Amino acid sequence: MELFETIFNRRSIRRYETRQVEEEKVQEILKAAMFAPSARNSQAWHFMVITDRTILDEIRCVHPYAGMLAEAPLAILVCGDKSIDPSEGYLNTNCSAATQNILLAAHALGLGSVWLGVFPREERIKAIAEVLRLPQHILPISLIAIGYSAEKPEKPERFKPEKIHREKW
Ligand SMILES: Cc1cc2nc3c(=O)[nH]c(=O)nc-3n(C[C@H](O)[C@H](O)[C@H](O)COP(=O)(O)O)c2cc1C
Repeated sequence: MELFETIFNRRSIRRYETRQVEEEKVQEILKAAMFAPSARNSQAWHFMVITDRTILDEIRCVHPYAGMLAEAPLAILVCGDKSIDPSEGYLNTNCSAATQNILLAAHALGLGSVWLGVFPREERIKAIAEVLRLPQHILPISLIAIGYSAEKPEKPERFKPEKIHREKW
């Protein structure tokens, strides 16, 4: 898929078919995530691939806006590694870049996805860490639900010239 078409047509998808995502597609998505930029090229991230229905349901129960995990066959948790970079700010920025790559890669592969925020909500960080038994140095940043889309949201108009500023403000 052409890059700009991918960027402009990606939408958050919250309804999914039941069919599983092929492992080759999961690998492509993870590869795209790991090609994201990171401060000092730290690559201080980890990616948890979750397809187990019981675990997806456990996560859904502790995240207030993750109801779509009842249908999604796959979720990827993007985590920062505090033992590599202690700065939560940089971990969040790097993992967010990886998250966007995941969303775009999923769309380019004909899949739907939605970004579910975890960091900086302390209660979500704690709950997700408990469910997935994350070690102390692993900070969950974002969760992405992925699957074959069962909806087709409208394409919004997002380009707003008044948001653009040139030279000095
Ligand atoms: C940091 C962040 C956290 C988000 N958290 C959630 C969430 O918890 N649940 C959800 O359904 N969507 C979540 N979203 C998706 C946004 O609602 C969505 O991107 C926004 O409405 C724009 O729609 P679009 O993705 O279709 O362009 C999140 C997006 C971001 C960037």
